[in-house]
Amino acid sequence: MSIRSGLSLAAAAAVLALAGCGSTSTSPTKPQAVGELEATRGNDAKGTVRFMQTADNVVLATGQITGLKPNAEHGFHIHDKGDCSSGDGMSAGGHFNPTGSAHGKYGADAHHGGDLPSLRADANGVARFNAEIRGISIKTGAANDIVGRGLIVHADPDDFKTQPTGNAGARLACAVIK
Ligand code: CU
Ligand code: ZN
Repeated sequence: MSIRSGLSLAAAAAVLALAGCGSTSTSPTKPQAVGELEATRGNDAKGTVRFMQTADNVVLATGQITGLKPNAEHGFHIHDKGDCSSGDGMSAGGHFNPTGSAHGKYGADAHHGGDLPSLRADANGVARFNAEIRGISIKTGAANDIVGRGLIVHADPDDFKTQPTGNAGARLACAVIK
């Protein structure tokens, strides 16, 4: 009994330690980063997106964003500059585009390295995001390294056509990927 409960406590402690690890890497083979999204001026969207490189140039992105327009799609991109200082998200620049591509839909067309699948907010304005993104990396120092770049949540859906923005409207939240 005492041995058994001792083991399960140790297991629980290990899980808690992993869950609370923040931006530090827990494994030398899986580099990680995080974007803490903060609302731009006059908006309420915020959340956390964690990035983990699972293979060469493959990054798993998971997170939750709240304060969105309910039952709506919101354009979501990594932007060129890790700079949220302007207060409206514009200081993050254009879409992260390490390959000189056109803007488009991830997985379907030519697209920027920073073009992510759109967020879908539920009836409470909450979007959960879980996507494996090919073509970017973490802490590699390569042109497609997302650390030090921006992360932007938009007010409107991405049309995946308008160049080079997708016409996704105002920037509701901004993060620097660290
Ligand atoms: Cu964007
Ligand atoms: Zn784009």
